[in-house]
Amino acid sequence: MEFDLQELKSEWNLDPDYHHVNHGSFGAVPIVVQKVQQQWRDRIQKNPMKFFARELKDEVAHARGHVARFLGQQADQIALIRNTTEGASTVMRGFPLHPDDEVIVLNQEYGAVTKAVARACEASGAKLIEIDVDYLDSDEIVIQKIAGGITNKSRMLVIDHITSASARTLPIYELGALCKANSIVYVVDASHSPGTVHTDLDKLDADFWFGNLHKWVSAPLGVGVLRIAQRWQEVLRPLIVSWRDDEPYPFPWDMLGTVDPTSWLSAPKAIEFFGNIGWERVREANYQRMMFGRELVMKELGVTQDEIRIDFLPLGVVPIRNISGGRDGSAALHAKIATDFKVEVPISFIADKYYLRISGMLYNTPENYEALALAVRKTLK
Ligand SMILES: Cc1ncc(COP(=O)(O)O)c(C=O)c1O
Repeated sequence: MEFDLQELKSEWNLDPDYHHVNHGSFGAVPIVVQKVQQQWRDRIQKNPMKFFARELKDEVAHARGHVARFLGQQADQIALIRNTTEGASTVMRGFPLHPDDEVIVLNQEYGAVTKAVARACEASGAKLIEIDVDYLDSDEIVIQKIAGGITNKSRMLVIDHITSASARTLPIYELGALCKANSIVYVVDASHSPGTVHTDLDKLDADFWFGNLHKWVSAPLGVGVLRIAQRWQEVLRPLIVSWRDDEPYPFPWDMLGTVDPTSWLSAPKAIEFFGNIGWERVREANYQRMMFGRELVMKELGVTQDEIRIDFLPLGVVPIRNISGGRDGSAALHAKIATDFKVEVPISFIADKYYLRISGMLYNTPENYEALALAVRKTLK
C-alpha cells in the first residue's frame, strides 16, 4: 500500500531511524523552506546594519502580508508573533479584567493557556471558571454546557478551535454567536487551525484569535499570528515595548527589539510549498494517513468506533485505558516508546483521561504506522 504523495517524503530530512508520527506538536520543516531560512540568515550576516536598519521593516511587512492573504486577511488585520503561548499570555496580561469578572475555559484547554488565564485572574481578582466537557460530547452538548456556565459576571470565554490533548474541533462560530449574545469577550486559540481547517476570520469576528504556522503549515519554528479585532487594537498592545510602540496596530509587533526574524520571513515559502501541491489534496492525504494509523492502533487496543470522534483533521486520538501516573506517566510512556521502538508519538493526559495522538503528514508512510501499532501491542496491551 502507498499513500497519496508519499514520494514527497524526501522533501524532509527527518531522522530515518525514527518513525515520526507527531507532526502536531512541533511540525517539521521541508528542506526547501530550511534553505530559504538559511538564505535569510546569510543575507543578514553579510551586513546586519543594512538589514536591520534599512530593510527589515519592509521585509517583515511583506511576509506579514503574505501570511495575512493565506489566512484570508488584509496585511493590517494580523500581527506576527512567535507562537500561541505568546498570543495567550499577551492577551491575558494585556486585557483589562476586573475583580468581579469571570473567565470561562474548558477542562480540555491547553495547559499553558489555562495557566495564562489563571495568572491574569490572580492579578486582577477575576474568577476562573472551568467547565467540564468530554472528548466525545457533541457540539450541541458543548454549547449547552458553556451556555449553562454563563452568568451576569461572565466577561470572557477562552476556547480552542482544535483541542491539543484530545484533538477535537469545537464549534467556534456557534460559540462566537453565544458570546456576542451575552456580551462576552471571545478568545480563540487556533494553534492547530492554519493549514488544517479553513476559517473565515472576518465572519468569526473573535475579539482575539491566535494561531501557529509552525505546526500544519510547516513554517520554521516561531511563526505565530495574533489577530486582534479592530475594537481592541488600541487597548491590547504588545507586552514588550519597542521603538515602534506609538504606531498603529499591527506595526508595533513587527520588531520587538533585536530578534531573529528569519522564521517569519521564510513562512511565505512554506505556504507556497503546500500551495503548489494544493491544500485540499494535502489535507486529504494527511487525513488518510492519520485514519490509517488510528485504525491500526484501535485494532490493537480493541477500541471501537463509538469511542472516537471523526473530525476531518490530520491529527486524531485513540483513548487509552490501562495507564496511570497523570502527565508524568504519559511522558514516561512516550519516552519508552521512542527509546524502545523508535516511534515518536505523544501520549496526552487531560481531564483524567489518556489518549494516544496520531498525526499524518506527507512524509509519513504505512511503515510508520505499522511500527506504531507494534509499539502499542508491546507496551499497552
Ligand atoms: C491548543 C494549543 N494551544 C497552544 C499550544 C502552544 O503552542 P506553541 O508551543 O507553539 O506556543 C498548543 C501546542 O501544541 C496547542 O495545541
